[in-house]
Amino acid sequence: MSNNIVVAIDGYSSCGKSTLAKALAKKLHFIYVDSGAMYRAVALYFLRNNIDLENNEQIAEALKNIHLNFHSRDYQSHITLNDEEVSDEIRQMHVADKVSAVAAIHDVRVAMVKQQQRLGKSKNIVMDGRDIGTVVFPNAQVKLFMTADPKIRAERRYKELLPTNPDITLEEIFDNLAHRDYQDTTRKESPLTRAEDAIILDNTDLTQAEQLLFALSHIEPFMA
Ligand code: DC
Repeated sequence: MSNNIVVAIDGYSSCGKSTLAKALAKKLHFIYVDSGAMYRAVALYFLRNNIDLENNEQIAEALKNIHLNFHSRDYQSHITLNDEEVSDEIRQMHVADKVSAVAAIHDVRVAMVKQQQRLGKSKNIVMDGRDIGTVVFPNAQVKLFMTADPKIRAERRYKELLPTNPDITLEEIFDNLAHRDYQDTTRKESPLTRAEDAIILDNTDLTQAEQLLFALSHIEPFMA
């Protein structure tokens, strides 16, 4: 059996999972995998190709034509969809509005989980998402479940999106987050839920440095 270390980070939308995951990967020299980016890239492909989310045959065919790759530069995760860099486009609202519905589809999840498990087979990795500690890596050495006050989460995402989306409103973001949380926690397929052995990390009142130290204190025992 391989003895690589897997850190699984799950939690609600815009809780800072990827910020923490990237900081951990940088500090520990682990590989960072943003599983949400994979679902976003699939949603983008479905949007561009007018895939009907009720049509299983169309979905199966589309999944065969989707090739995703990660490129890590400076511990920032870049994703390509059929060799096209889509890291920026997948963060836009038209994708955010669609992604939860796409991520709820059984065949989409089966295809993504398979790829995710392959990525974590032999290397030390930090992966963030919604089902990483429950479905993708139930045996991960460290599982963190992140949460934060919904208002704080919306404000953080607003600041992030405003420079490239000057017309966006805080209300729109708040509603989008609430909608995604609802869809992610109530869907039939792998709903967002805390694994029994996951450590809760509520970062409402924590700085990034503080949350990093908290997470490191749980990982370091496995690195001895
Ligand atoms: O983390 P994110 O906001 O980029 O995720 C985008 C969407 O994908 C989100 O609505 C939930 C879904 N997702 C999922 O269902 N499972 C994962 N492992 C990661 C993301």
